[in-house]
Amino acid sequence: MSEVTPVVDAEYMEEIERARRDLRALIASKSCAPIMLRLAWHDAGTYDAKTKTGGPNGSIRFPQEYSHGANKGIKIAIDLLEPIKQKHPKITYADLYQLAGIVAVEVTGGPTIDFIPGRKDSSVCPEEGRLPDAKQGASHLREVFYRMGLSDKDIVALSGGHTLYNFQGRARPERSGFDGAWTKDPLKFDNSYFIELLKGDSEGLLKLPTDKVLVEDPEFRRYVEKYAKDEEDFFRDYAESHKKLSELGFTPPRSAFSCKSGNKQKSLLVQAAAGVAVAAAVVAWAYLCETNKKIG
Ligand code: HEM
Repeated sequence: MSEVTPVVDAEYMEEIERARRDLRALIASKSCAPIMLRLAWHDAGTYDAKTKTGGPNGSIRFPQEYSHGANKGIKIAIDLLEPIKQKHPKITYADLYQLAGIVAVEVTGGPTIDFIPGRKDSSVCPEEGRLPDAKQGASHLREVFYRMGLSDKDIVALSGGHTLYNFQGRARPERSGFDGAWTKDPLKFDNSYFIELLKGDSEGLLKLPTDKVLVEDPEFRRYVEKYAKDEEDFFRDYAESHKKLSELGFTPPRSAFSCKSGNKQKSLLVQAAAGVAVAAAVVAWAYLCETNKKIG
């Protein structure tokens, strides 16, 4: 069987909240937010909107996919998450990987990202070559992200994910071959990626060719300048683009709650209470009208 569809009921939601707590602890204790974010992005970033293949479906857990050149080092994140999967077996790999990416952004100080569970697991791996090649330019970036159904704004906002990097002061030749961090505080999610990009090459920080095109291409640069100037703007757009990325090809089940750390359940209660209050006011008003009619 190639697909596993989770039943998103109250029990599944509780399991998600428990896994969220375990992810916070794991990411804090291992300082592994950057590679968790990268795993979530690499599982999702294979999506092809035309053929509706690839995307956040957990297929990256298979050697056939994690051994792709672009996924060098990603097995570290897959292995770190396996004990959490074993502890919460109900949760699909697809949901777990996307939740890990969202928690990684939150615990490093980034924006809160809406998470809707219910992604199916797939054992069908996309062919190699769907993720972007860091050595190429603007047209390649557009080709890859437009294929997913994403926009120029999404490209720039999501590239801001490079604010994070697992920099431990040592080269990592086993990975991409690029080395160094993009920002001075690579375990803090902020807008410094864009500030550093605008400064050019002076600081000795990492800049991939695909980072550099963001300041060279006028349409991309517009967003770089906006995000460097205003972190609130970046956080708002990033949260929106990250949610899109995490839901490529995914239609949330009708019953699914959205969970920004359980706030949705509270807001449903508030809505129910407001409904009861409105109904009571209507009854009282009708009663008053009736009484007034009788008096008049
Ligand atoms: C725009 C096209 C992109 C290209 C070409 C690209 C390329 C790369 C490369 C070459 C690395 C270094 C890998 C290594 O040596 O360990 C990297 C790391 C990273 N990327 Fe990207 N990336 C892109 C977009 C994104 C997006 C959209 C996100 C998340 C929203 C992201 C998040 C990360 C993170 C967090 C790391 C650091 C991982 C670690 O330190 O373990 N990247 N990326």
